[in-house]
Amino acid sequence: MTTAPSRPSASGSRAPATGTGTYTGRFRVWRGDAGGGSLQEYQVEVNEGEVVLDVVHRLQATQAHDLAVRWNCKAGKCGSCSAEINGRPRLMCMTRMSVFAEDETVTITPMRTFPVVRDLVTDVSFNYAKAREIPSFVPPAGLAPGEYRMSQEDVGRSQEFRKCIECFLCQNTCHVVRDHEENKAAFAGPRFLMRVAELDMHPLDSAAATGLDRRATAQDDHGLGYCNITKCCTDVCPENIRITDNALIPLKERVADRKYDPLVWLGSVIRRRR
Ligand code: SF4
Ligand code: SF4
Ligand code: FES
Repeated sequence: MTTAPSRPSASGSRAPATGTGTYTGRFRVWRGDAGGGSLQEYQVEVNEGEVVLDVVHRLQATQAHDLAVRWNCKAGKCGSCSAEINGRPRLMCMTRMSVFAEDETVTITPMRTFPVVRDLVTDVSFNYAKAREIPSFVPPAGLAPGEYRMSQEDVGRSQEFRKCIECFLCQNTCHVVRDHEENKAAFAGPRFLMRVAELDMHPLDSAAATGLDRRATAQDDHGLGYCNITKCCTDVCPENIRITDNALIPLKERVADRKYDPLVWLGSVIRRRR
């Protein structure tokens, strides 16, 4: 049976370190695989200006050569280095060591919502499966690529969602699936409900003309009703996308409009009779 990574207390930022030079920091890093694991203690050199990923790399280079960690850009743009640091979901490459006190033990664990592959690496294929379930953009009939025209005013609302780096920290944080494996089949998660909202707001998306009702699919196929707008996903987004306020709540409003619009209701009754 898989032993879930132990859950440290969720401490956010604390008093910044007062020193300016090098010090020896204390770390607890979850080591193990799908069969189980535990927190291992390490002491690692920390230098001024470093981020958590620098320390993990030094740990890997000097003491734990087989430590598994996923990363690519070290610039907060590839979304690979997601983990939980002192219980808070964060990007390791964008978490400065200066937010922790020098005498504080920093605990690094893998994302809890996804199965562990090894050490800090999780299997995030749940997210790719959910991405595939969302019907893609439907181009308007009669227009070829290059002939599309949109005004900035029309794209403004959904442009924010394009900043997503697919780090899956929001997916990892959402309580609907974090502690409820059984909900994963029915719930796409904030990142992909945001994708449905983006397509529904897209001025050129012509899904409706093909009979695809994106609002209905959000509710019926992607589990929008599970979301109770707690905003936990928004709190951890490293791109500061206002997932709940700007995507999920408007999508819920659109679903409600559709459900209680008398014309939509009449149309669905007529369709049912036919
Ligand atoms: S706002 Fe909705 S999607 Fe976001 S964490 Fe809360 S329940 Fe999950
Ligand atoms: S919405 Fe934010 S937290 Fe979620 S995957 Fe995209 S960048 Fe990461
Ligand atoms: S290594 Fe790319 S986001 Fe951290």
